[in-house]
Amino acid sequence: MKRLLISLALIALALLWNSCKDAPQGRSERIQQMIAQSKLASDPHSWSKPNEARVTHLAWKAKVDMKAHVIQATATYQVKNLTQAPEVIFDIRKLDIQNVEVNGKPVEFTVGEDKKFIGQPLVIPIPEDSCEVKITYSTSPDADALLWVDGDKPFLFSQSQAILARTWLPCQDSPGVRFTYSAEVTVPNDLLALMSAENPQQKNTSGIYSFKMEQPVPSYLMALAVGDVEFRSIGPRTGVYAVRDVVDGAAKEFEDIEAMITAAEKLYGPYVWGRYDLLVLPAAFPFGGMENPRLTFATPTILAGDKSLVSLVAHELAHSWSGNLVTNSTWNDFWLNEGFTVYFEMRIMEEVFGKERSEMLALLARQDLDATLGVISADDSHLKLKLDDRDPDEGMSDIAYNKGYFFLRTIEEKVGRERFDAFLKNYFTSNAFQVMDTERFVSVLRKDLLSEEEFVSIGVEGWIYGPGLPANTAVVNSDRMTKVDEMAAQWTKLKDSSLIKWSSWSYQEKYRFLSSITDFTSKDMATLDAQFSISASTNSEVLFKWLELSISKKYEPAYSKVEEFLMSVGRRKFVMPLFEAMVVSDQKDMALRIYEKSRPNYHSVTTQSVDELLGINQN
Ligand code: BES
Ligand code: ZN
Repeated sequence: MKRLLISLALIALALLWNSCKDAPQGRSERIQQMIAQSKLASDPHSWSKPNEARVTHLAWKAKVDMKAHVIQATATYQVKNLTQAPEVIFDIRKLDIQNVEVNGKPVEFTVGEDKKFIGQPLVIPIPEDSCEVKITYSTSPDADALLWVDGDKPFLFSQSQAILARTWLPCQDSPGVRFTYSAEVTVPNDLLALMSAENPQQKNTSGIYSFKMEQPVPSYLMALAVGDVEFRSIGPRTGVYAVRDVVDGAAKEFEDIEAMITAAEKLYGPYVWGRYDLLVLPAAFPFGGMENPRLTFATPTILAGDKSLVSLVAHELAHSWSGNLVTNSTWNDFWLNEGFTVYFEMRIMEEVFGKERSEMLALLARQDLDATLGVISADDSHLKLKLDDRDPDEGMSDIAYNKGYFFLRTIEEKVGRERFDAFLKNYFTSNAFQVMDTERFVSVLRKDLLSEEEFVSIGVEGWIYGPGLPANTAVVNSDRMTKVDEMAAQWTKLKDSSLIKWSSWSYQEKYRFLSSITDFTSKDMATLDAQFSISASTNSEVLFKWLELSISKKYEPAYSKVEEFLMSVGRRKFVMPLFEAMVVSDQKDMALRIYEKSRPNYHSVTTQSVDELLGINQN
């Protein structure tokens, strides 16, 4: 009964958030109070001590120099001193701190030891009470979060997750520390600035843009983009930003967003962030998508022209609940963000596009997971990670995503969808704007969903703290994919491509086919290519798989395409395996030759991985 009352109160709170547009102050303060005092777990990837003194609001004023690749800014923070601490600590990396004032008076600050990945602590003395801390600083031209794309119309975008926000903003860079923000950003007046906040929809002549984020968010969701982009409305609360050549196509590609939001809300409760817009970035964007609140950042490689890759939008949208509303406590609990999100993504896809399609996606998730399990250590295959002395980026594997997905799906199948959905809806509502760690999730599962018998028979502990995939893993059922597997086996035996119904296949089937064929030569690839023009595929996933095979099998007619792809696309998920295929097939010289030219086009997330692979340029 008590629980019911609490959930009702929280549902009311969420609804209130959506409806009471005229009292932003009151609304954010209430939530702020709820969370500003909560005790946070210690985070191995942050210097800050938010249990002592914690930021609650940021006013950011910045000038973006697109030529010098520098942001000059002041960050004015409201700091709550919870324990009468003598100092507040921020994370910084490669920042030039010029001046710090507390309550309007300059203070002596110190910048401590520079730790690999982590950066430095910026230590600022504060009074016993809450106070205002104003930091004047500039970013370095090689700030890891930022990618500056030069050209006639230059473009800048940030990628803060996991711990890169500190390279463009002093912050308590730990996922449990949430703050509201406002910003005023000055950019060249032929460009538009956008943030993970309430955004402008068109350029103005001054080049000065104001932003507001009234819901408290962690620093990894801080985002900025500057470019010559236009806006197109899709629905009453949705739209897309992209460069002129792309924006109309993108609006068409993403026209099902509203249906996705409706499906998501039906499952897990109201979308509390107001608008949901997408920004299509330059192809250098290192990820497929990033769930920046109110404004998902997306790679242009999902613009297939036939909506075949929109599950990525379902994924980023799903983060509006799993991740942005209920947030992993530290990066060791990353699966709580991504595993839930993949599960939720599949549910949205099922609801909007039907089970046949979502099951094909689930099978590809299983395929990737099996491949990953074949190469990683047993310890790294646990859902709960130990990333303490490592770059949290290393936790970004199919384990968090797809083992996480199969764990939740296995629970769902055990208890039935109705019970599981009710549990999840309540989970998101009652933990909104809070952190969750794995241990607490396990106790919530015990308390709110599973009987002791169910808990044991699912083997919850084994799933989370054990290696690999347990024997009770939910099984994916896809007749269409089964047929593809049969076709692949047959082709491998007979090499008779007249049997293949390529043009009637979805991208998932094509991708599955290319991943399943074995025992063939570059000559066989030439036959397939002649018949199905695979090298000219406009679906980036299919093209990627084909190029990877081309490298492995030394199918040289596709090499110019390989080079063209790597020169323009910076998405790590594509770039890494292509260079890996070159290394494995004894073509490292080709890798080095292409990488020397393409490296300047990539974001640090991608260069860091490829540098390591090719053993170059490491610092
Ligand atoms: N939040 C992630 C991206 C991320 C994770 C960036 C960890 C930095 C550190 C985003 O939601 C994501 O998962 N993107 C995927 C797409 C998805 C459909 C699996 C990607 O970019 O490939
Ligand atoms: Zn994700």
